[in-house]
Amino acid sequence: MLISSVTTLKLEDIVKGGDGPKIYQLYVRGDDKWVADRVKQAMGAGYDAFCITVDTAVYSRRERDIAKRFVKSWRTAATGQDHQAAFSWDSFKRVKDQFPDVKFILKGIGCGEDAELALKEGVWGVYCSNHGGRQLDHGRGSAAVLPEIITAVKGKAKVIVDGSFSRGTDIVKAICLGADWVGLGRLYCYGLAANGAAGIERVVELLEEEMKEVMGLLGVSSLKQLDKSYVSQGFPTNLPGVHSAFPLIGEGY
Ligand SMILES: Cc1cc2nc3c(=O)[nH]c(=O)nc-3n(C[C@H](O)[C@H](O)[C@H](O)COP(=O)(O)O)c2cc1C
Repeated sequence: MLISSVTTLKLEDIVKGGDGPKIYQLYVRGDDKWVADRVKQAMGAGYDAFCITVDTAVYSRRERDIAKRFVKSWRTAATGQDHQAAFSWDSFKRVKDQFPDVKFILKGIGCGEDAELALKEGVWGVYCSNHGGRQLDHGRGSAAVLPEIITAVKGKAKVIVDGSFSRGTDIVKAICLGADWVGLGRLYCYGLAANGAAGIERVVELLEEEMKEVMGLLGVSSLKQLDKSYVSQGFPTNLPGVHSAFPLIGEGY
């Protein structure tokens, strides 16, 4: 679980919710001291790693929201975004220097050069993400960027990837390309909306079943056997759908 700093629940309560690995994820909303206090609070509560999202210097233009006249009531009072905008490699270095033993992850790395810089600053994890495509529209997709990140990281940090992973086959492809972990954003929300906690469990079960099927059909019995020889580049054959930015209007969503 990657627990967001904008969740309404207390981070100390969430960490008690299960035995799996838990990462605390921060949006920077204050100065160095504010960030350091969040690191202390999360690590003191028992989180395994600390992730800072770095692809949201400014709030994105969300055209579905605009088209539907949807205004998030909780955003109108939001403050501190200027601290996120000002967060630089030097800011990260200052945090890292204060907490040399904390496993830091930078989320929103979008090219090999930034992965190299992140490594230089001593990150434990490089999180390849374009925020589900809803920050900078028309950027490169995570799957397109992942290979150059893997090349840059050279096995010296964990590599996490997300962005429209919706099928077991998608996850297997990411692992073939060298990712250690695959993140899910929207997908588990669909399960949650359909059937609460049981719906999320079902999403994960379906993904597991699909992964086993595709691995069986590839003729492998372990994720460790997967490598990039199992994938080749394809080209889109389908029309834009619910996961695409356009068309926005007239398709019932
Ligand atoms: C409901 C929702 C809330 C999110 N909140 C955060 C957040 O607080 N911090 C963050 O770094 N990313 C957040 N994201 C982005 C996800 O972490 C992730 O990068 C993205 O959704 C992955 O793409 P996917 O939705 O296609 O799986 C959120 C995504 C969703 C769907």
